[in-house]
Parts: sequence; C-alpha cells; structure tokens
Amino acid sequence: AVDISKLRDQSGYITLDPGFKNTGAAKSAITFLDGETGILRYRGYPIEQLAEKSTFLEVAYLLIYGDLPTKAVLEQFRTDIKSQMMIHEDMKNFFAGFPSKSHPMGQLSCLVGALSAFYPESLDPNPTPEEEDKTIINLLAKMPTIVSWIQKKSLGHPVVYPKTNLGYIDNFLNMIFGEVNQDKTFDPVVIDAMHKLLILHADHEQNCSTSTVRIVGSSNANLYASVSAGINALWGPLHGGANQAVIEMLEAIKNDGGDAEKYLAKAKDKNDPFRLMGFGHRVYKNFDPRAKIIKKACDDILEKLGVNDPVLDIAKKLEEAALNDQYFIDRKLYPNVDFYSGIIYRALGFNSEMFTVLFALGRLPGWIAQWKEMRENKEPIGRPRQVYTGQTERNYVEITQR
Ligand code: ACO
Repeated sequence: AVDISKLRDQSGYITLDPGFKNTGAAKSAITFLDGETGILRYRGYPIEQLAEKSTFLEVAYLLIYGDLPTKAVLEQFRTDIKSQMMIHEDMKNFFAGFPSKSHPMGQLSCLVGALSAFYPESLDPNPTPEEEDKTIINLLAKMPTIVSWIQKKSLGHPVVYPKTNLGYIDNFLNMIFGEVNQDKTFDPVVIDAMHKLLILHADHEQNCSTSTVRIVGSSNANLYASVSAGINALWGPLHGGANQAVIEMLEAIKNDGGDAEKYLAKAKDKNDPFRLMGFGHRVYKNFDPRAKIIKKACDDILEKLGVNDPVLDIAKKLEEAALNDQYFIDRKLYPNVDFYSGIIYRALGFNSEMFTVLFALGRLPGWIAQWKEMRENKEPIGRPRQVYTGQTERNYVEITQR
C-alpha cells in the first residue's frame, strides 16, 4: 500500500503513477485509440481504410496538418519533399566516423540531431509558420536518405543519391537496394507493402517515443533535437526495438528445434527474464488492429513474392499457442504491431538491425504532428513530480571519519 503521507510535499498532494499508466499528459486531436475494442483512427479516419487506400505521404500530411490534402496540395507537398531529399555533403563525414558495425538506431539519432547544425534556422524558438513548415519538410525529406545511407554504410557500399524522377518510397528503396548509376525498379507489391507498413506505424498517440518528443519539445528544443530524442526512446526492445527482437527470437526458436510451447513456458516463468517479444501492449487489451492488418499483409506479400520463410510458421504456432494459454488470456496479451512486421521487412530484403530504423521512418509524421500540436497548444514545459524516498537531512562527514 502507498503511504499517503509520502505523496505530500510543500505544494500539496501529488499523483504517483509510475509508467503513466493512467495519467494523461496532453489533450490531442491527432490519434484516437480504444484499447478495449481495438480501434485506431488518425484524425478520425480508421486505420484499416488508410492502410488499404492511402499512401504514406498522404497520411503524413493528414497527421501533420489535420485533413486529407486535395490533389493539388498533395502534389505540392510531394514536390517540396522531393526537392529537399539531398543531405549536406559534409554529413557523409559522420558515416565515415562510425564503426561499420554500429547499430543503425545510434547512427540515426545522431544524424537527425546533427541536422540542426546544418540547418540552424531550425533553432529559432519562435519560427513563423512558413519557417516551421520548411523544417518539417526538410526532416521528412532527409530521413529516407539518412536511413538508406546507414544501410549502405553497414555494407561498405557507396551511397546512392536521391533522384528527382522517383517518388518517396521508390527513392528510398532505390537508395537502399539500387547501385550508383544503376537504378532499380520494384514490384508494386513491394511498394505497396512499404506504404502499408509505414502508414501502420505513423502515429500511436502518447507512446514512449512520442511522449519523449513532446517533453523534449516542451522546453522549446528544435524539431531535430526533439525527434532525435524520440528515436532513442524508440530503440528499446520494449518499444520499437521489439521488431528486431521478435525476428531474433523466432530465429532462436527455429534453431532450437521449433518448439513454441517450450518458449511459451519460458515466457510464463517469473524466474526467467524472457518475454515473448511482440506480445502485449500497454493500451490494447483485446487485439492490436495494426497486427491484424500486418498478419494478412504478411501472408499476401510472402505469397506474391514466392518467399517461404520458416519463421512465419513458428510465429503462427506461437500465436496460436499463446492465444489458447490461460497466462496470456488472463493478462490480455495479444500479438502487437511488431509481431509480424519483421517477417515482411525480411522478405523485402532488409536485415534485422534495420527494422527499428524503418519503424522510425514510419513514426516520423506522428512525432512531427505531436511536436507541432504541443507547440500550438502552448503546453507548459514537461516536468513530472516525484515522491522522495531518500535520506532525511544529515550532516556532512569528513572523509577521514567515514
Ligand atoms: N511475455 C510474457 N509476459 C508478459 C509479456 C510478454 N511479452 N508482456 C507482459 N507480460 C506479463 C507481465 O510479466 C505481467 O505479468 P504479472 O501481472 O504476472 O506481473 C503482465 O503481463 C503485465 O505486464 P506489464 O509489463 O506490467 O505491462 P506493461 O503495460 O507495463 O508493458 C509491454 C507493456 C512493455 C509492451 C509488455 O507487454 C512487453 O514487454 N512486451 C514485449 C515487448 C514488446 O513486444 N514491445 C512492443 C510493444 S508495441 C510497440 O511499442 C510498438
């Protein structure tokens, strides 16, 4: 039981809610989420409709500016982004400095933070709406270039520059899988899968990384710095890093004979730190609507690409076993968005260390929208309180007397 006297300080009683399980930190008009019934809507539009009918940049516009764009507005948005995809040539020096095996998420947060050094106009704490839009476009435009160059660096291959004749996703895939002077074309199935995955990850209200972006931004930190902090928050395996952890877990189960039940037992054992990665969610207590769409997309894409990935069978076995297990039923643990996403990314040709970076690319419009909203709402600086549990006052003891 909580000692209520400890919740009081000189300024009165405070609320103690570790992990903010029941504390709202903001009013927001961006994303609606009902965890009991498995509803997710961006600006009122059901995620199912957006995943089926929309494109990533259209959803980005919707999240950031509040409404679906007209054809002309979307065209302008795309053109503006396309014109800014090149990154400053000096940024290449960063890639040269990183050890080749450094994790892509560490590189990404560093490079996104460094954009403020190359585009110092973003440091103005009170930009005009036009200046703010410039920074937003710049970040949306440069992120795919940065992500793809991280991938090239990991392979030791020369970077491929963005092309003005390609769209956002084609450009991104070409910079990843194409070669210098040799553009690559992609099956529409692959392009469609990328749009879907990025749309499904584009926002998820006040999750760990988004709350980080808002709290960093609440000090008037610039957009690049705020998003760089969000990238670091996303990295952890309990959040975005779960997609890499899932595929590594499925691989380990496969290499250990494919016994799903054995790993289920491990996940239930309270003396074993192992958790079933890709299972459970702070808010969804029925099902994760994104997981439903991804599972179907995973089946479709693997079939269309003619890929037979044995870890998909393990994933299905594990899901089936968990959904019928009392431990998982009692705790309302269901597969989350990242249980199947890694299998698709793998089929598209990405290595597992890139999965969380792809999540970040998808989440970027959400981070931007939430940062913008936080500023428009003139939210005060984020500064949680605490319940002090340390020593009461004591006198300094000379080092010779300790
Ligand atoms: N495997 C086994 N047991 C689990 C799992 C899991 N994946 N997730 C939760 N539990 C158990 C906990 O041990 C706890 O059991 P107890 O009541 O007997 O102590 C109970 O379920 C509640 O779990 P909490 O950790 O209190 O739930 P919380 O809301 O704090 O955590 C989280 C949610 C972090 C997502 C958790 O379910 C987890 O660690 N999942 C695995 C990692 C993962 O997939 N993360 C991605 C989330 S989605 C995203 O960020 C995009």
